[in-house]
Formats: sequence, structure tokens, C-alpha cells
Amino acid sequence: MDRRKFLTSTLAAGATASVASTAAAQANKTIRIVGVSCSPREGKTTATAIQVALDAARTVDPRIRVELIDLGGLQIAGSLGGATSAGASQPEDDFDLEVLPVLKTPCLPDGMIIGSPSYFRSMSALCKPFLERLQIFREPKLLLADMVLGALATGAYRNGGQELVIQEIHTAMLVHEVMVAGGKPRAHQGATLWNNWKDDIIKDEFGIETAEQLGIRVAEAALRLKT
Ligand SMILES: Cc1cc2nc3c(=O)[nH]c(=O)nc-3n(C[C@H](O)[C@H](O)[C@H](O)COP(=O)(O)O)c2cc1C
Repeated sequence: MDRRKFLTSTLAAGATASVASTAAAQANKTIRIVGVSCSPREGKTTATAIQVALDAARTVDPRIRVELIDLGGLQIAGSLGGATSAGASQPEDDFDLEVLPVLKTPCLPDGMIIGSPSYFRSMSALCKPFLERLQIFREPKLLLADMVLGALATGAYRNGGQELVIQEIHTAMLVHEVMVAGGKPRAHQGATLWNNWKDDIIKDEFGIETAEQLGIRVAEAALRLKT
């Protein structure tokens, strides 16, 4: 089942056929880009940076719809190793209740921008389980294949491991056969932001520009792939 068919069957389960077909037609016309902030601190620098990237993405084309999922405050357990997409042994948590419904509705994203703070020069302990739980999209087929993926990282230091964090996210997401996108010049790896002004990340002009470049690049690539 490909991603579009998955959408159609998902919608059909809970709605009338006519509502489903209207939603599917609408979803086909739009390019959906979802940002995911993987900081445990809701609404802080990583979420702000993702929002900046999404706002820039939206300027690329009127068909682009953006949405932020802030994982801050959510309880998401790492995979317990369930072999199936149902994750038979995986207890239900906020990934199932809060994240999955948004990711899937009204259709799987055409583009995704994942951001994490650098924690000891690595991704946050919230980012890892989120990435592991995306396993559900690998079965029965690779439902995220060809989705455009961009990544960003925040850190308290200018060179606090942001590029390493981005690389970790890229590496994990390649198991879905996503198309990795960097940014335009000065943001080729993705967006790297410096939290040097007491959580006022907007003051990092260079970093904010990389977030904008990343959002634009992801949007352009998603647009090109879909149309
Ligand atoms: C446990 C921990 C480890 C951290 N390690 C790093 C680090 O290795 N490099 C760095 O630049 N910043 C590090 N930081 C700072 C955060 O990356 C930085 O404050 C970031 O902006 C936080 O993102 P948030 O505002 O979205 O929560 C660390 C913070 C914590 C709490």
C-alpha cells in the first residue's frame, strides 16, 4: 500500500465515503509539511526554530500547509522491540494518543522537519524514542518513503554538536527511504541555532537564517516531488 492509499484507507475507516473522498482530494492538492520539536521543554528554542522554518516553508507556495508538533511535556517510550507495526508489546502512550493522529491526519506529510536540542552533543532523550516509534510507518510498506526530511538542532554553544545531532536524525530517518534535504548556502547540513540569549533564539540571526533556508529547501523539494 503506498502512502496515498494508506491515507484513503485510514480516512475511510472513520468517515463516510463522501467525506473521505473530499478530504483525499483536498489532501492531494496541498503539500503538507510537519515540524517536530523534540525538546522536553515545550515552546522553547527548538520549537521556535522549527516554527521559523515552517513559516519560511509556507512562503514558497500557497499550496503548502504547515503544522508544528511539539513533543515537550509528552511521555514517549522507546520501542520495546515489537516486530510488528501494531507493536504488540508496546503500551499505549502519548505517541499513540497525541502524535500519531496528527501525523496521519489528513494525510501523511510530504515533508518533515525534525529538530532536537543538542544534549551532550547528541540528540535529546525525547528525540530518540520518537524516531524509534516511527517504526510503525515502515510496515507493511515504507509509508514515509520519498518524504522530504530536514533537520535542525539548537545548542548553548555556537559549535555545541548541532551538526552531529542533525546527522543522527538524518541517519535514523534514512531507514524510511526519505529524501534528505539540507538548506541553501550557509545551511547545507540543515539549521544550526545558538541559544546564547537566554532562550531568545530569535536573536541568533545567523541561526534563524539557517532555519529559514532549511524550511524553504524542504518546501521546494516537497513541491517538486509532488507536482
Ligand atoms: C542535559 C543537557 C545537555 C546539553 N548539552 C549541550 C551540548 O552538548 N551542546 C550544546 O551546545 N548545548 C547543550 N545543552 C544546551 C541545550 O542544547 C540548549 O539550551 C537548547 O537551546 C535547549 O533547547 P530548548 O530550548 O528547545 O529546550 C544541553 C542542555 C542540557 C539540559
